[in-house]
Amino acid sequence: MSKNNGFSPGLEGIVAAETELSHVDGLKGELIIAGFPLARLAANATFEETTFLLWNGRLPTQTELDKFKQELADYRPLPPVTLNLLHEAAKANSTPMDALRMAAATLDLGNSDAAHHTTAKIIVARVATIVANYHCLQQGKAPIAPNPSLGHAANFLYMLTGDVPSNARVRGLETYLNTVVDHGLNASTFAARVIVATQSDLVSAIAGAIGALKGPLHGGAPGPALDTVFEIGSAERAEAVLQAKLDAGERLMGFGHRVYKVRDPRAEVLGAAAEKMFRADGDMALYELAKSVEETAVRLLAIHKPGRNLQTNVEFYTALLLHGLGLDTDIFTPTFAVGRTAGWLAHCFEQIEYGRLIRPQSRYTGTLDRAWMPLEER
Ligand code: ACO
Repeated sequence: MSKNNGFSPGLEGIVAAETELSHVDGLKGELIIAGFPLARLAANATFEETTFLLWNGRLPTQTELDKFKQELADYRPLPPVTLNLLHEAAKANSTPMDALRMAAATLDLGNSDAAHHTTAKIIVARVATIVANYHCLQQGKAPIAPNPSLGHAANFLYMLTGDVPSNARVRGLETYLNTVVDHGLNASTFAARVIVATQSDLVSAIAGAIGALKGPLHGGAPGPALDTVFEIGSAERAEAVLQAKLDAGERLMGFGHRVYKVRDPRAEVLGAAAEKMFRADGDMALYELAKSVEETAVRLLAIHKPGRNLQTNVEFYTALLLHGLGLDTDIFTPTFAVGRTAGWLAHCFEQIEYGRLIRPQSRYTGTLDRAWMPLEER
């Protein structure tokens, strides 16, 4: 970490919030979500249970869960203004993340006086609908209306294809959404907290967080990670292709992390979920290839950047699992947003409760005493 008179580039090593939502230990490779080790929560909870847990600090009772699920299901359909915007975005060929950012910003229209928890439920419910409806529009199809009899994860898959998914697929997606729901003070969560810390609103915070998530150094990596696996094509080509990328100064997508210096625990959980999914489908070829690419990438990175501890991050197996679930590459990052939205909102609640403006300082490195030059003399 480079620190100089209180200056920490990238805020590395700076603790800027206290949270009860998730604990990330980058040296042990440990992630705890609201008290639960990731593997225990991710594989067992529904996405609605996880969201309730983060927003209320405890798991729901059956009655509470039924009510929460019903409320989310009721809020799923998009208002005409949001759907119209998606139609326009599709005509302009906007990327799914840009369409999501624009459409998410409409979500308080007509609800601007709603209580925080109501707005939060509207956002979680409709972010999933936006992603799925936009995907259909981009394929030249009519958006598929939500199915109120399905849970959040199942309905998301349903809105993408029109088919009610198998239990195995729903479990795969629940595990993914739970795995990415929260992760300390990552860039998009920080962006959301900064926005609500000014006493701005939840919709603004989510629109800002979506913008932060979009970049390839954050949530934009899984598509390129999968592209690399496809480009490699067979295990014996892994070394040559990856070495050429490193020689060209490229970063290997799905590897390296600001906090984790060991294998990202989310890679473990998602890798296991992906293996289960590919095994159930009876074709392990892509999974085996990805394992081999991972092993080669980690080995080459250790040689290329010794001492940097560049290990597999969450995005590598995200790509594999979401591909196994039948999702197209261009909605990997929006699907990350479907899960992370619940975590962003939980952080917004914490920040609102804490109530302190986030306002760091900068160090001026410019000149101090310039002579003013009139326009005609410049
Ligand atoms: N491939 C090749 N080299 C890498 C990689 C990589 N994936 N990651 C880091 N490095 C190198 C950097 O070039 C740098 O080398 P240098 O010091 O000789 O210049 C060194 O390792 C340290 O990298 P930093 O950029 O300082 O590390 P930082 O903590 O800022 O970056 C990040 C973390 C952005 C995730 C980085 O590892 C990366 O770009 N990875 C690839 C993209 C990716 O997978 N993103 C998803 C992250 S997970 C998430 O956000 C959900």
